Amino acid sequence: MRLLFTGGSGKAGRHVIPYLLDQGHEVVNVDLTPLDHPGVDTIIADITDSGQMFNVLTSHGNLGDLEHGTGPAPFDAVVHFAAIPRILIAPDNETFRVNTIGTYNVIEAAVKLGIQKVIIASSETTYGICFAEGPRAPKSLPLDEDYDIDPMDSYGLSKVANEATARAFALRTGADIYALRIGNVIEPHEYQELFPAFFDNPDRRLRNAFCYIDARDLGQIVDLCLKKDGLGFQVFNAGNDDNSVALTTPELLARYYPGVPLTRDLGEREALFSNKKIRDVLGFREQHPWQNYVAP
Ligand SMILES: NC(=O)c1ccc[n+]([C@@H]2O[C@H](COP(=O)([O-])OP(=O)(O)OC[C@H]3O[C@@H](n4cnc5c(N)ncnc54)[C@H](O)[C@@H]3O)[C@@H](O)[C@H]2O)c1
Repeated sequence: MRLLFTGGSGKAGRHVIPYLLDQGHEVVNVDLTPLDHPGVDTIIADITDSGQMFNVLTSHGNLGDLEHGTGPAPFDAVVHFAAIPRILIAPDNETFRVNTIGTYNVIEAAVKLGIQKVIIASSETTYGICFAEGPRAPKSLPLDEDYDIDPMDSYGLSKVANEATARAFALRTGADIYALRIGNVIEPHEYQELFPAFFDNPDRRLRNAFCYIDARDLGQIVDLCLKKDGLGFQVFNAGNDDNSVALTTPELLARYYPGVPLTRDLGEREALFSNKKIRDVLGFREQHPWQNYVAP
């Protein structure tokens, strides 16, 4: 597929794009900074400017495209990752503005140009725990796509709004728009850097509900979404199978969540941030469990 990828120069995109290239996709990156990766050109454009989004979606991806002499080729799908990726990078209202207006602009341009598949980056923070004021227990576990999401911060709220935007455009146009509630992204080098401290002190992972997603496994999830048609608007948690600590799931429940009701039985090491839906609906099979890279 010919893909327009926004935010591909960032932490997640720089691993997801190589995965997509390996699957045979062609990728044009749209970002405020270039991605240094062979075979991928970056168009510098701002997602908060609607005109720029319509423009990049109707333009060549690079100078080589001029050789065809047939005008810009259409894009088959859009993967939208560009965002301010948490609170306290920019003022709260700026985080909300960039993330919501940016996502509106990208989805609107894509579907009005007839693109039938859009994948957007939502977030684990929609569950309202990550950036809550003070410690906050979930209403139930596991955190799955049926949970009544209720964040209290501007970033999580922007992602809830984006899911509503995606749903509205999917309803109006019949396009497939899938929102990935991405867990805490882990790059390959971060297993050695970060996980020993997670094993020593699991408290560090409480605000993430112990979740993680390997950046390359996130690539697999995006590719599976590209290949799965006809689902309309969907939300998918994007996480790995296990929790990012050495404790078992029953040990985590007993230590951190006494009194939190379970909506179903959980496996011995099953992630509290459930990835059951991507396994069942998309056929996701993780390739990069943390156990491959680091030992407690
Ligand atoms: N990293 C995580 O753990 C995590 C977890 C959940 C969700 N997410 C979401 O996944 C996506 C990617 O996250 P990331 O960690 O790679 O973030 P990142 O900040 O590393 O990358 C985001 C990219 O978006 C670009 N960008 C920002 N504003 C832009 C604008 N106005 N126009 C064009 N480009 C713009 C940035 O230049 C950057 O390259 C984001 O939507 C983020 O909210 C990330």
